[in-house]
Amino acid sequence: MTSKTQSDKDRVVIFDTTLRDGEQCPGATMTHEEKLEVAELLDTMGVDIIEAGFPIASEGDFAAVHEIAKRSKNAVICGLSRAAFKDIDRCAEAIKPAKRKRIHTFLSTSPVHMKYKLQKEPHEVYEMVIGQVTRARGHTDDVEWSAEDGTRTEHDFLCRCVEAAINAGATTINIPDTVGYTVPEEYFALFEMVRNRVPNSDRARFSTHCHNDLGMAVANSLAGVKAGARQIECTINGIGERAGNAALEEIVMAIRTRGDVLPFHTGIDASMLMRASKLVAAATSFPVQYNKAIVGRNAFAHESGIHQDGMLKNAQTYEIMTPESVGVKQTSLVMGKHSGRHAFVHKLDELGYQLAANQLEDAFVRFKALADKKKQIYDEDIEALVDEEIATAYDRIKIISLTVIAGTMGPQSATLSLDIEGKHVTTQSTGNGPVDAIFNAIHALVPHEAKLELYQVHAVTEGTDAQAEVSVRLSEDGRAYTAKGADPDTLVASAKAYLAALNKLTSKRNRTPGVENRIHSTDVG
Ligand code: KIV
Ligand code: ZN
Repeated sequence: MTSKTQSDKDRVVIFDTTLRDGEQCPGATMTHEEKLEVAELLDTMGVDIIEAGFPIASEGDFAAVHEIAKRSKNAVICGLSRAAFKDIDRCAEAIKPAKRKRIHTFLSTSPVHMKYKLQKEPHEVYEMVIGQVTRARGHTDDVEWSAEDGTRTEHDFLCRCVEAAINAGATTINIPDTVGYTVPEEYFALFEMVRNRVPNSDRARFSTHCHNDLGMAVANSLAGVKAGARQIECTINGIGERAGNAALEEIVMAIRTRGDVLPFHTGIDASMLMRASKLVAAATSFPVQYNKAIVGRNAFAHESGIHQDGMLKNAQTYEIMTPESVGVKQTSLVMGKHSGRHAFVHKLDELGYQLAANQLEDAFVRFKALADKKKQIYDEDIEALVDEEIATAYDRIKIISLTVIAGTMGPQSATLSLDIEGKHVTTQSTGNGPVDAIFNAIHALVPHEAKLELYQVHAVTEGTDAQAEVSVRLSEDGRAYTAKGADPDTLVASAKAYLAALNKLTSKRNRTPGVENRIHSTDVG
């Protein structure tokens, strides 16, 4: 909502690319249903443009963009495409059902990308820019053109391409820092230069798209806005290629908290930031670092005595924004086996979760089972349980039972029963240790070629009755699938994590018939 003091010229449009650039990073694959859930939340929290995927990349990407387009309420639904006309046409088809739709088409303009990646001369690239934007405009009035590797592009050539793209009908011009190379002053100067030199620059909105290789993605994006850009491309939790993209939550809160030096505003409901962070972390199985700005577990924790003393006297001593403003609610409600459904729902709400009725039912049953085994249930226990519930809700392979024989006498063995799409199967396997025995049993019941790349165990809370959280990463055909499993029994958590990764892998394989899903490796411009 624009107030009297906030004019439209200071409104920064938030373009979320969690489902495209975010999902593209190794291991962050989301299932179809997870993508729909994330898109719904982004739409509800006020994201202006949702980049829902890269439709030409796979049948799965196409299906997700198409379904998100159908379900969208307020946000503009955008799809990415390279310069090839078949990419653009496929993208147009995917976003067709959306009330408001955008085609985002990009092409590399830096000398190194043109020479080695595209193997094209600048004059050919220039003609392709005109061609791709014209083609996209044939499908929709809302067209964004990106000069990939814009921050390493020669200024004269960048200005010529931007002018041509606007003349061909581009309504948004994005200058990405594709390799996370720029610094705030330089990015500011780049936008200022382009906006001043390109004669038709007033006919388009300028956009930032910053990668975080040097840890400056948010600072660079805000510098771009200070120089006149009015769209920021970003992702929840900052996920994305390599070191990630500018984090949406940091951008929104920087603008809200420092209105004195950043006199801008967005349409984001900041109180939903924590919920969005949790949903994306659960869907991608990418943990949020404890000290991550805004949404990290410690972002509002005050440990030292001096800080706690100051906080008790006046929260403003050490807090520049309230936890409530980003959806973190402080609570002392202790959960245990006597806690009922009402208290459980209340706790989920405080932790920022909103579950569908069937997920809530399952989560409550699992909470009760956990409470029978564990005296005190901490917030972290509930988070681990619910994250797993969200991640496994649509799994085709589910664990029914597991019995393990371990100890010094060997050989260690595992008897495992699984439900594979409604069919119950059981096997017994031995191994070099109990975890190896379990993974061998899974392999026997679900034959696959994927390689185990990572196996990591950590305790969710303290004490010998703490829940174990296990992370497993599997890789197949150059793609990585990371997933988590939680249980008071470390071996059960290991089996759950392996199966969760396998579920992601098979779900991706089922909807990607032989098509590589990476834009940076298949980019033909
Ligand atoms: O980083 C980048 O340049 C991109 C483009 C496709 C916009 O993601
Ligand atoms: Zn990018």
